Amino acid sequence: MSSHRQLTGSVVIATHNPGKLAEMRELLSPYGIAAQSASELNLAEPEETGTTFAANARIKATAASNATERAAFADDSGLVVEALAGEPGIYSARWAGPDKDFRFAMNRIQTLLVEKGAASPDQRRAHFIAALCIAWPDGHVEEFEGRVDGHIVWPPRGEAGFGYDPLFLPDGHERTFGEMTALEKHGLPPLGLGLSHRARAFVKLATACLKP
Ligand code: IMP
Repeated sequence: MSSHRQLTGSVVIATHNPGKLAEMRELLSPYGIAAQSASELNLAEPEETGTTFAANARIKATAASNATERAAFADDSGLVVEALAGEPGIYSARWAGPDKDFRFAMNRIQTLLVEKGAASPDQRRAHFIAALCIAWPDGHVEEFEGRVDGHIVWPPRGEAGFGYDPLFLPDGHERTFGEMTALEKHGLPPLGLGLSHRARAFVKLATACLKP
């Protein structure tokens, strides 16, 4: 018997990011979990004051759960560039500014890497991290983390996905996340590879908290 609490029925997805919402819905639907988003419910976005991905995921899930008195699911994720001391990290969304201009954010990463003389794939190592949290109104939380390693390419490649996808070439692959289909990027086994950070965290969450 699992000591993790099971998620059943429906869940509030604590995100205002349409790209992430679409991925989370696709991940949850095979388990028969209906999902409503924080934007659909007009929930306020809490301030992400945590210093780790896990802390910010917990802040978002707990705020949505408290506001709705239902189970809520949040992720916090970002791109960690090793040669930039881990930046943009938990500030990945903020680097794109209020207009969510990821062209600008990708240029900033490239400019900083060039300033550091980081030209080879080895010098341009990066990983995406996803922290997932389910919070219940009684204060119980379940937390999981996934990571995918790769390097930063330039120029950006591909129009698929969102955020920094066109910059990121996962290890063992020839196409960036921006060039992959949704199934290749975050599809779960047996159909997909379970490649993305979010997919990897989700496999852990599903094993612990969801019934097929
Ligand atoms: P937050 O989790 O909403 O605070 O923001 C995470 C940010 O990290 C996103 O807005 C993207 O910029 C970036 N990010 C997270 N996951 C991915 C991904 O799968 N592809 C591209 N960018 C991502």
